[in-house]
Amino acid sequence: MKHEIIAILNFGSQYSQLIARRVREQNVCSKIFRPDISAKELSHMNLKGIILSGGPASVYAEGAPRCDEDIFELNVPILGICYGMQLGCQILGAGIIPAGHREYGRTDVTIKDSSDLFGNLPDSIIAWASHGDQLENPGRDFDILAETKTCPYAAVRHKRLNFYGVQFHPEVSHTPKGSTILENFLYGICGCSGDWKMSDFVNETVESIRKKVGNANVICGLSGGVDSSVTASLIHKAIGNQLICIFVDNGLLRKNEVDNVVSTFGNHFHMDLHVLDWSKQFLKKLEGVTDPQQKRIIIGSEFIEAFKSEAKKIPNAKFLAQGTLYPDVIESGAEASAASVSKDLTVGAANIKLHHNVGGLPAELGFDLVEPLRDLFKDEVRIVGEYLGLPEDMVWRHPFPGPGLAVRIIGDITPERLKILRDADEIVIDEIKSAGLYRKISQALAVLVPVSTVGVMGDERSYESVIAVRAVETVDFMTADFSRIPHDVLAIISNRIINEVRGVNRVVYDISSKPPATIEWE
Ligand code: XMP
Repeated sequence: MKHEIIAILNFGSQYSQLIARRVREQNVCSKIFRPDISAKELSHMNLKGIILSGGPASVYAEGAPRCDEDIFELNVPILGICYGMQLGCQILGAGIIPAGHREYGRTDVTIKDSSDLFGNLPDSIIAWASHGDQLENPGRDFDILAETKTCPYAAVRHKRLNFYGVQFHPEVSHTPKGSTILENFLYGICGCSGDWKMSDFVNETVESIRKKVGNANVICGLSGGVDSSVTASLIHKAIGNQLICIFVDNGLLRKNEVDNVVSTFGNHFHMDLHVLDWSKQFLKKLEGVTDPQQKRIIIGSEFIEAFKSEAKKIPNAKFLAQGTLYPDVIESGAEASAASVSKDLTVGAANIKLHHNVGGLPAELGFDLVEPLRDLFKDEVRIVGEYLGLPEDMVWRHPFPGPGLAVRIIGDITPERLKILRDADEIVIDEIKSAGLYRKISQALAVLVPVSTVGVMGDERSYESVIAVRAVETVDFMTADFSRIPHDVLAIISNRIINEVRGVNRVVYDISSKPPATIEWE
């Protein structure tokens, strides 16, 4: 079936993928195209509408991106957002000027016409704007749909052509009613039927994976996290045992992690899963190392060695599967391959921690990449995971860093200290789940602090380790606040850790936000 399509012409906005995602959320298929795609090319699709994205340029600047003006003859509704509005209005005869007052951030929009684009909305809405230019005088060809204090033509509709423009960004979460505006556009104006579901993404992706890999084998580094698990499941659905998963036990995993991965992917999904126990090699290399950056470097290069040693045994392996998501693509600098970059390294000045991912395999391994989740956001990946039948526990898992417990053991990494942290970590997660808080909290963890403090246990003086419990709530993991876990739950966690984990006599709760603290302690 040929789905109804909303074409998004990308004028360089950082939000184009977000627009695509907002459209998908409304069960409509969206595709992003270069801004100058021809009207003819678009006319061959089952096109229901076009969205012109925002963009950093000024419409009157030399070399500013433009669209094929014939798209206005295609007889489908067009919505211009920010730059897209300015460009559309300019093409249709209105003048654009630098705004007297630039509008950045929150703005109050007064709705003057609620007949279509702004139906089902209050008279005034909060919106997020980011523009220096704006429509000057729309003339007689446009109806004015909304205004703000500094922008008299915050939204317009062309009187004859099916063109709408909004100066603000309905796609961002800071425009709380933005989804109603998009819904009005998609359903009320474009007449979409809502014929697209995440399962269609799965089916289309399965097809394109098959086409891409042919009869070659694909290797996937499984980490047990959501992204690599969903990637593996999706590829397995496409090519079955042409997918070979490699799971490296680096000795820094959580309790029972190896068993869980084997039982889900090996036993349940019957994947060809190679588990490599390299724990001895990793721990040997980490002996006596206390510097966190050094730990990461060692773990990173050891992981590559382990992976390579197994990968070279796999015949006809031409592709490497990566669980790259869209936010990773942005973080790694637009089109850079996520295979060769590790998260914070690419941020340059913000090289606060050397992140090593399973996704941090070097390009010289010589594989072509398969990155089926590259256009998706995390919550969409979880929906795909649920659809593919991954266990709920796996789909809703908190993130776990590539270097594993090494970043949560401050100081020396020894088998004894690993055991303490594993046992404490299990209790933290267990109790947070029992209290029904696991999904509310974005990430919860235990940290083994390298100090001993005095306690009394029975009648004896003890001198033992401190465990710090950290739980944060965040949307993007770039900023985070500590979770207000009820004291009763904290009390249970503390009691259980002190009673059940040998070597710990004190538990503290981390109440710092990020920034200035980070989520992991290192
Ligand atoms: P920080 O500690 O920088 O962590 O606030 C932000 C998020 O990133 C995770 N993290 C990592 N993830 N490899 C990863 O795959 C890493 O080396 C790494 N270090 C931190 C951290 O758990 C949190 O979710």
